[in-house]
Amino acid sequence: MLEEVAPIESNRKIGKGTFLMGFRSTSLASLTRPGQFFMIHFGRATKDPLLRRPFSIHGIQDTNRLMILYNIVGKGTSLLSALREGDPISVIGPLGNGFTLPRPNERALLVAGGMGIAPLLFLTQALKRVQRRRIKMFLGFPTSQEVVLTDQLKDLDIDLSLTTEDGSLGTRGLVTDLLDQYLGQELTERPVLYACGPAPMLRKVAQRAVAFNLRCYVSLESHMACGFGICQGCAVKTSSSKDKPYYYVCQDGPVFSAEMIDWEAL
Ligand SMILES: Cc1cc2nc3c(=O)[nH]c(=O)nc-3n(C[C@H](O)[C@H](O)[C@H](O)COP(=O)(O)OP(=O)(O)OC[C@H]3O[C@@H](n4cnc5c(N)ncnc54)[C@H](O)[C@@H]3O)c2cc1C
Ligand code: FES
Repeated sequence: MLEEVAPIESNRKIGKGTFLMGFRSTSLASLTRPGQFFMIHFGRATKDPLLRRPFSIHGIQDTNRLMILYNIVGKGTSLLSALREGDPISVIGPLGNGFTLPRPNERALLVAGGMGIAPLLFLTQALKRVQRRRIKMFLGFPTSQEVVLTDQLKDLDIDLSLTTEDGSLGTRGLVTDLLDQYLGQELTERPVLYACGPAPMLRKVAQRAVAFNLRCYVSLESHMACGFGICQGCAVKTSSSKDKPYYYVCQDGPVFSAEMIDWEAL
């Protein structure tokens, strides 16, 4: 884990309330795996908010340009969106465990809801290097206004299916409806599921994985004050509460095998 201050290279709006930020760090890029995250503090000597905020690593370009995809939801992300080229951010990371990649002959099926696409694009880049099979992705947003990154995903030549809840782009419905349709067919292969998105979506994906006996990795979000196991603010209940009642999302995750989590408690 490193702490670095890096100047922002780019920070541009790519959708409704959604920004894509890039900064360069050869040392952080060389250590980072898909599914890990950074704790970021904004701008020069800002005391409000005092705490860093966690962000997934969205991708690496040109070997050392790290990308962060984020939505404005509150004070920290609003401050982040106001930063310009050359402004410094303070970054601690990489943190967390990252995704376990499938074997080369297994098919990866990625399920992303909204900002859940953030860590899955980096995963897609890594999968492209090791997988012989075409990667399949189900991607869902509330409406066409929130849809981002579809061109970049098409450039990666993946088998992409899109949903919006109001049907304004792609298939109408929830992203998990696509998963249900897919699993409802006679499966000729057993995909490994990778999912990131809101908790109700992840719960549904995990339930399907159990029902169809599929390996499934979920990337969880929780409130984080420290990012490395000190504050205990990111605890989630485990499914085997006798051995270990809680996992810390920052240290034990953020990626978990679906059966590790008590989904009713989440
Ligand atoms: C491991 C990890 C990776 C993440 N990766 C990304 C990413 O790549 N892109 C991205 O946009 N966001 C990501 N997030 C969420 C991001 O950290 C929060 O949106 C951010 O901290 C909000 O800061 P804020 O100061 O703008 O909002 P705040 O003022 O802190 O909060 C605004 C509102 O958002 C809610 N909120 C804040 N954080 C969370 C959270 N973690 N889970 C649920 N609700 C929350 C608050 O309860 C409040 O209602 C990630 C979170 C984690 C734990
Ligand atoms: S964020 Fe502090 S223990 Fe996980």
